[in-house]
Amino acid sequence: MSKSGYKPGPDDDVMGQAYDARLMGRLLEFVKPIKYYVILSVLLLLVTVAVELAGPLVLKHGIDNYIAIKQIDGLGLIALIFIGLIILTFILRFVQTYLMQWIGQTVIFDLRTKLFKHLLKQDIKFIDSRPVGWLMTRVTNDVQNLFELLSSGIVAIFGDLFMLLGILVVLLVLNVKLALVTFIVVPLIFGAVIAFRKKVRVTFRTIREALAQLNGHMQENISGIRTVQLFVRENETLKEFRIRSEVFRNAYKKAIRYFALFFPAISFLSVLATALILLAGGLMIKEDALTWGAFIAFLQYSERFFRPIRDLSEKYNTMQAAMAAAERVFWLLDTKPDIADPEHPEDNSKVKGNVEFDDVGFEYKSGEPILKNVSFKIEPGETVAVVGATGAGKTTLISLLLRFWETTSGRILLDGKDIREFGQHDLRRSFGVVLQDVFLFSGSIAENVTLGEADRHGEVLDKALEQANALDFVKELSEGVNEPVGERGARLSGGQKQLIAIARALAANPPLLLLDEATAAVDTETEHHIQEALDRLMRGRTTLVVAHRLSTIRNANRIIVLHKGMIQETGTHAELIKQDGIYAKLHKLQFAENGKG
Ligand SMILES: Nc1ncnc2c1ncn2[C@@H]1O[C@H](COP(=O)(O)OP(=O)(O)OP(=O)(O)O)[C@@H](O)[C@H]1O
Ligand SMILES: [Mg+2]
Repeated sequence: MSKSGYKPGPDDDVMGQAYDARLMGRLLEFVKPIKYYVILSVLLLLVTVAVELAGPLVLKHGIDNYIAIKQIDGLGLIALIFIGLIILTFILRFVQTYLMQWIGQTVIFDLRTKLFKHLLKQDIKFIDSRPVGWLMTRVTNDVQNLFELLSSGIVAIFGDLFMLLGILVVLLVLNVKLALVTFIVVPLIFGAVIAFRKKVRVTFRTIREALAQLNGHMQENISGIRTVQLFVRENETLKEFRIRSEVFRNAYKKAIRYFALFFPAISFLSVLATALILLAGGLMIKEDALTWGAFIAFLQYSERFFRPIRDLSEKYNTMQAAMAAAERVFWLLDTKPDIADPEHPEDNSKVKGNVEFDDVGFEYKSGEPILKNVSFKIEPGETVAVVGATGAGKTTLISLLLRFWETTSGRILLDGKDIREFGQHDLRRSFGVVLQDVFLFSGSIAENVTLGEADRHGEVLDKALEQANALDFVKELSEGVNEPVGERGARLSGGQKQLIAIARALAANPPLLLLDEATAAVDTETEHHIQEALDRLMRGRTTLVVAHRLSTIRNANRIIVLHKGMIQETGTHAELIKQDGIYAKLHKLQFAENGKG
């Protein structure tokens, strides 16, 4: 997977600790801007817990000081206080929950934006070294895990612990003996929780792995559906899908079994505690060692005692998943692109368009050179064509000039300055680029041509489409320039996509041009349209073109013949034919036989 020698990063499914101070510290950095809301939320939680704890005490007071001695006056007030506490709890819970979710979403919004911004800055080498799905999962799933940690994790755990402690203290104060009897079940509960956690942890991991497999398989086969259908692979594909789906189902079934066992088990233990209180409490009442009110309060507290314990064991999973997510998210945020801007970038607003490759060597993987000692110059306004067999390194030349990759040795100069001295944005802005496979975004034709730059709308858009010979077909579309092109431009033909790409370059009006001609054949008329549009685009611009069309090659000022990453021949068409070398052979193979071009 790590084709480029990048560190693979933290594993997808290693579940570590449920708490990691370093990761938590970094996460809290994101919380800092709204820390007062967090403090408010914690305070609210403490008040809520205190109010909830007060309920049974009020009840006890009513029973012992009024009902037990048949004193009815004032009982109404007690009832009102009791209701008031419940209403207060309700309001507090609402505000607190709302606040926590709000905090979670606010923090996560920032984190998600930061992550995507970070991804946009990464160099191609890094993006290529990871499956797209992996990167996407960081921005979606992992961020969601962190949201759960923030909204219902940390603060709620704090609340649960506070509640447990509170109940513990109140019970001990009410009656030490009965409290100790009630606590007999506590070790049993912890035993159940630990056993459950161990089992569920493994199953959860299997579930996550199975889901990733299922998604990966589905994604690949849906985007490759044409190939699946073409080779009649539907049944095999379905079979593979079913196998993965079964793994997922079985893991899930197992998890459900554990949950179905765990919750009733906790309920059982809670009933056990009630039974103990009934027995021991009954005896104590008989001996006047316990009041009726305290007895009722005990029963109520013991019921409330189990909820936070149950929640805590679930929250442990949340914490654990969140820590693993945080590890991956921060790892990603820490990766620095190899290709960086200089501190004081050169101004290139007035490039003349002088390009020079100076003894350039390049390898995608170290030890496997793709380009060797490549040196050539393009004067402003000149067109240089690169020809060579497939895999010779032609597209690589373009990628290097755009600084998608960094040269391994040698330099590339623009107007005499190393391209590394410019900012990447400025550098790329000075090039118009029409690549081998045109990439269109899923917006409209207009959006794809203007790329959201306001000054390229209206006249500029129309003129670009016209000059690109695209206006004719665009006019025929029911929505004209507003016609959606579909994902990756799926609703347009190959030729149409190229015309749109040419219009895009025309609208940007850059001083330099990089063309990587498509090898896919189009019909003669479209071919003619494309050729004409390209001629208009190239006029007056310094152009480096990876050429497959004979006409493009013939019109070039110079032809560079690239063979196995080295420049083997240079010259005009006529000169190279006369030389009778590689170019002459290529020319014979590619054009002479079928008379194309
Ligand atoms: N991202 C990449 N990672 C690793 N190797 C790559 C990458 N892109 C291209 N290569 C390799 O570099 C070599 C040159 O590729 P390049 O795309 O420059 O060829 P090309 O001359 O443009 O070929 P074509 O005429 O088929 O477009 C090929 O052997 C290819 O396998
Ligand atoms: Mg290529």
